[in-house]
Amino acid sequence: MKSSWLVLCLVFGFMVAVTAAATPNTGAKDMSLAGGSQGKVPFPHHQHQAVISDCNACHAAFPQKAGAIDELKANGTLKKKQVMNQQCVKCHKENNAAGKKTGPLTCAQCHVK
Ligand code: HEC
Ligand code: HEC
Ligand code: HEC
Repeated sequence: MKSSWLVLCLVFGFMVAVTAAATPNTGAKDMSLAGGSQGKVPFPHHQHQAVISDCNACHAAFPQKAGAIDELKANGTLKKKQVMNQQCVKCHKENNAAGKKTGPLTCAQCHVK
């Protein structure tokens, strides 16, 4: 009796572990990024994941961790506006020029006060 409980527990534990490993943490659906004097920047994270298959299109520059951009800007690894210019605006401009669906291009469309 005792040993069959043990087996059941092991099997259940294994299933939980497999499920956890198979479900990647895709982070918050929507977030608000710090945008300095221009005001915060609403960012639809999962909407981007749906159109950009490679997480590293963005996460090569900063880890998958809340507050990562601010941390790296504070220690000088990322310059101010580096993510904005080299990722957000760059990609939106390229998509816009190519006639593909894209995101905002002007300051006030991204930054809200
Ligand atoms: C278009 C850019 C972009 C793409 C593509 C992207 N992310 Fe993110 N992700 C961000 C930004 C911006 C943050 C916020 C970083 C910060 O707070 O400094 C973030 C934060 C995160 C976080 C931590 C925040 C939280 O809510 O836990 C996780 C986890 C994460 N991303 C996972 C992923 C995964 C997995 C993928 C691919 C399926 C992905 N991201 C694709 C931009 C992106
Ligand atoms: C596509 C969205 C987007 C557009 C368009 C945009 N920004 Fe940003 N901006 C961001 C994001 C995201 C950040 C935070 C990440 C970073 O600093 O790279 C930011 C950060 C900033 C910061 C704060 C930098 C700091 O660390 O102090 C300033 C100032 C700024 N933007 C000004 C502007 C101005 C001026 C324009 C128009 C010419 C503009 N932004 C257009 C998304 C955008
Ligand atoms: C590699 C390309 C790429 C990068 C990098 C990227 N975007 Fe976008 N963004 C898109 C595309 C494509 C859309 C249009 C998505 C759609 O219509 O479903 C979009 C749409 C948006 C929208 C409009 C969402 C809506 O429909 O209301 C916002 C806001 C936005 N992006 C902000 C940002 C910010 C802030 C960053 C940087 C942290 C960023 N994007 C980085 C490609 C990108």
